Amino acid sequence: MCGIIGFTGNIEAKKLLIDGLARLEYRGYDSAGIALQYKDQPFQIVKKAGKVETLRQFCEDLDSSSTCGIGHTRWATHGGVTDENAHPHLVGRVALIHNGIIENYHELIEKFNLEHMVKSETDTEVAAAVINHFYKGDPYYAIRQAMKHMIGSFAFCIMFQDVPDKIFAIRNVSPMVAAHFADGSIIASDLTAIIQYSQTYFIVPEYHIVTLTKDDIKVETLDGQMAKPESLTVSWNIEAAQKGGYEHYMMKEIMEQPEVIRGTVMPRIQDGLPSLLSDGVDDEILKDIHEIRVIACGTAMHAGMIFKSMVEPMMRIPVTVSIASEYRYDSPIIDAHTLVIAVSQSGETIDTLEALRLSKSYGAKTLSVVNVKGSTIARESDYVVYTHAGPEIAVASTKAYTVQIATLYVIGCRIGLVKGCISEEAARKFIGDLLDVIPAIQQVLDNREEIQNASICLLEAQDAFFIGRGIDYTLSLEGALKLKEISYIHAEAYAAGELKHGTIALITPGIPVIAIATQRKVFNKTISNIKEVSSRGAYVLLITEADLRVPEEICQQQLTIPEVDDLFSVFPAAVVLQLIAYYTSYGRGLDVDMPRNLAKSVTVE
Ligand code: AGP
Repeated sequence: MCGIIGFTGNIEAKKLLIDGLARLEYRGYDSAGIALQYKDQPFQIVKKAGKVETLRQFCEDLDSSSTCGIGHTRWATHGGVTDENAHPHLVGRVALIHNGIIENYHELIEKFNLEHMVKSETDTEVAAAVINHFYKGDPYYAIRQAMKHMIGSFAFCIMFQDVPDKIFAIRNVSPMVAAHFADGSIIASDLTAIIQYSQTYFIVPEYHIVTLTKDDIKVETLDGQMAKPESLTVSWNIEAAQKGGYEHYMMKEIMEQPEVIRGTVMPRIQDGLPSLLSDGVDDEILKDIHEIRVIACGTAMHAGMIFKSMVEPMMRIPVTVSIASEYRYDSPIIDAHTLVIAVSQSGETIDTLEALRLSKSYGAKTLSVVNVKGSTIARESDYVVYTHAGPEIAVASTKAYTVQIATLYVIGCRIGLVKGCISEEAARKFIGDLLDVIPAIQQVLDNREEIQNASICLLEAQDAFFIGRGIDYTLSLEGALKLKEISYIHAEAYAAGELKHGTIALITPGIPVIAIATQRKVFNKTISNIKEVSSRGAYVLLITEADLRVPEEICQQQLTIPEVDDLFSVFPAAVVLQLIAYYTSYGRGLDVDMPRNLAKSVTVE
């Protein structure tokens, strides 16, 4: 998704803005640009399709005297990847950058006769034209009037040609944070562009006009009432958001899993039992739950599916996992006895946010499992249980996935205990087994060279299959997604027992099949399925537990994980799949951290 940054203060704006855009690259983008304000001169705007470093080169000749400007990385929604469609957009006396979608931009062009004003294919330029249409010298009036007509999601940073050293901002749904520090005021899409300047910040409230000057930041409602958003403190530091010596963020984040699972779970264990009291989730809230609905997207949804695989057999509570982008247009059968759990690393995924809002309109209790403190989904949920994974910068979600599962396991175990589904003794054993995954994951990480060697079979592949049964099937969905999104191999997950009902027709000699067989009660059935694909020439890489190794002739390669209870094998097995995807992408010479077409947080629909 687009990255936004604005700065006004006493130091050079150009370098600060471009450095900030470099920190926002992980959000996913295809072009970048900045606009700089100079005393008694027109804005200087440089914007280019391509990388931030390309932009930096094109900005070398720009006068460094400017101390006020805005910068943007664009993830194309309306209009192709061109210099002209890149932001900032300048219309009349208004320069503007935008993250989001203006849904009624065609109507706005007609309503205000803007055809002659807009040159690009973007909704953003229309937004700038509308604000310029109302601008007669008063920025607040222009913004207020424009807000009356604009429909959609947006985070705007705006400069007015004849209003020196000031940046104005306003948002709806799309995220923005801001901070004042010794050298000026800064605003950005997220903390990664701010934390090197300030450890305290605030979240820009929706439909409030923010005015940044070098001396302070003012926040006011659309009717002019001053507001003072809560001051928040960053819970991690710039090192945590950097690569820490690893070649890629993704490898760093894979390696952090033992530590962040421990850091997330331990504070929620009291006397060996799961506890959510520190999260403000009282047992009374959990007592009268009749069913659970999980809403999420992508990897977060896969974590929710693992949660279902644990809760239903163990707690006998119905769990439905819904694709948020589908659910939000459904008419879900939920009520006050439904606990809706929104799972989201970023806490800004628009589909999950809208699904959460729909759930609240049906009277359901809402609890979110979120990694970013103070994010929109967290703030709009009745309850939030934060994961403490630290910043996840790589687009491919890894540590967030295993930490989400661990957190959901704690929640599920607490619900089971409160509702009398399991005894305290069973709960203690469950928590003990959960903590045992930490050394099991470490063992996989220590064995990553063997996994790198095993991944060679994928380097030239066009297609691949992931198969498994039960939790192994659910996990195979995540394995396929990981491989797809960073290696661009067409990977498909399939229930091992379902292959013979059609899809086995696609098994051709040499096609890689990653088989996951950790579930002991269906192990032999999965081995039968492996033989079915092997006999048709598939190249099978089996992931199983150390004591379940099979004879060499059954598959071409085996990777083993430490023996853990069936409900917990997902953790070490997931790390194997993450590493397989990582090494395959790396071996294919691709951009592991920022794969094509993808964004870290999908804040547009
Ligand atoms: C997973 O590797 C992807 N980055 C993507 O599926 C992601 O999990 C999904 O977009 C949900 O994001 P969220 O957890 O921030 O809501």
